[in-house]
Amino acid sequence: MSENTNDAVHSDVSGQPERTADSAAAAPVALSLTVNGALRDVAVAPETPLLWALRQSLGLTGTKFGCGMSLCGACTVHVDGVPTRSCVTPVSAVVGRQVTTIEGVSGPVAEAVQGAWVAADVPQCGYCQSGQVMAAAALLSATPQPSDAEIDAAMRGNVCRCGTYPRIRAAIRDASARLSAEQTAR
Ligand code: FES
Ligand code: FES
Repeated sequence: MSENTNDAVHSDVSGQPERTADSAAAAPVALSLTVNGALRDVAVAPETPLLWALRQSLGLTGTKFGCGMSLCGACTVHVDGVPTRSCVTPVSAVVGRQVTTIEGVSGPVAEAVQGAWVAADVPQCGYCQSGQVMAAAALLSATPQPSDAEIDAAMRGNVCRCGTYPRIRAAIRDASARLSAEQTAR
């Protein structure tokens, strides 16, 4: 996972990102990214955070901006299946790698997570939830039957200001049980 710091983007008082003079001065280059299984072309400065290439260049706004400093997990995507903070990952670092966002995550694990999230009615305001779902899906892909300690360790970096943590953990346990039942039924 690449988590280089990049301070080219800050939040203004309204919580909206703003660009510094440094990022405004950087020359855009043409890059081809593999996002949700498709090749997508973007023209951005190479050090632009992946988050902004996804949101602004590709219109994939399901991935959220929270802190911009790898502290909250709202911007979590998968890069080659690994949960990655897109706010601090330069877009140039993901060329030739598989980027998956909340819009494209799919397969049995994603379906189990989505089903469990709906059953537990996890979200409150919803802002953190795409990052939570991506972190949970990565956890269950690597460890389909996680212990409570493994759940806590995997989800520790994903902040929810609405405090939905108990429902998130219950949903992960439910998703794990769904995967186990599916495996048994085969
Ligand atoms: S916005 Fe990336 S970790 Fe907070
Ligand atoms: S549901 Fe509101 S921040 Fe998590």
